[in-house]
Amino acid sequence: MIQIAVDGPAGSGKSTVAREVAKRLGIVYLDTGAMYRAVTYQTLIEKRSVQNAHDLEIIVEALELEVAPGQIWANGKNVTEAIRQPEISRNVSYVAMDAYVRKCMVDLQRKIAGTQSVIMDGRDIGTHVLPNAKFKFFLTATAEERAKRRQIELDKAGYSVDYKALVDEINERDRLDSEREVSPLKIADDAEIIDTTELTTDQVIDLILKKIAYTNE
Ligand code: CDP
Ligand code: CDP
Repeated sequence: MIQIAVDGPAGSGKSTVAREVAKRLGIVYLDTGAMYRAVTYQTLIEKRSVQNAHDLEIIVEALELEVAPGQIWANGKNVTEAIRQPEISRNVSYVAMDAYVRKCMVDLQRKIAGTQSVIMDGRDIGTHVLPNAKFKFFLTATAEERAKRRQIELDKAGYSVDYKALVDEINERDRLDSEREVSPLKIADDAEIIDTTELTTDQVIDLILKKIAYTNE
């Protein structure tokens, strides 16, 4: 069994790259950010507060999360598209700060990784969820480049969001994710850092596949 951890800030290319690497290696891809987004979605539709630990506990206790490649369900409802809404992005870092939410998500993530080869992307995969992963990558890019990528995606999905507002939101999310007490976004000591600012997704995928092939020789 092989475990690959891909961490990094929003828009660094983690999910695009991890999904393709999974396909090429024939292993499972798990988008852990989608899980925190699904908890956020459920909290908002039940009109609870993302900044109230008691509210979050009630939501998580009752939440049935189901994940399949590229899809996620919350209490039986397919929320794959709904969790990408800008409102979820603006609220998710508060949900992800909560220690109980994190414990429940990490338990589920480790359970999935316990039975099969996986590539998982998130913020704390190499540092906390899978500390013994054989391969750890940390993707980065400037906040301006990441906002540009996000804007193109949101445009395609029919949301018109101001570029400057996206840069601010990305910087704020990086700050909240890096400064939180429980499993903050940080580079694992043994992770390989890839600055993707000037790279295409194909170039990043190649770098990762080469590293894995070379180490496995
Ligand atoms: O796709 P994007 O990079 O915008 O975000 P994501 O990977 O979907 O993650 C959304 C949020 O979930 C992050 O900003 C973190 O607050 C949180 N998250 C986390 O705390 N730990 C993870 N392993 C994955 C996501
Ligand atoms: O998961 P994360 O938030 O780190 O990034 P993503 O959801 O994969 O989004 C990155 C977006 O930027 C996608 O639309 C990619 O096609 C694009 N992109 C990239 O991921 N990596 C590059 N080197 C260049 C562009």
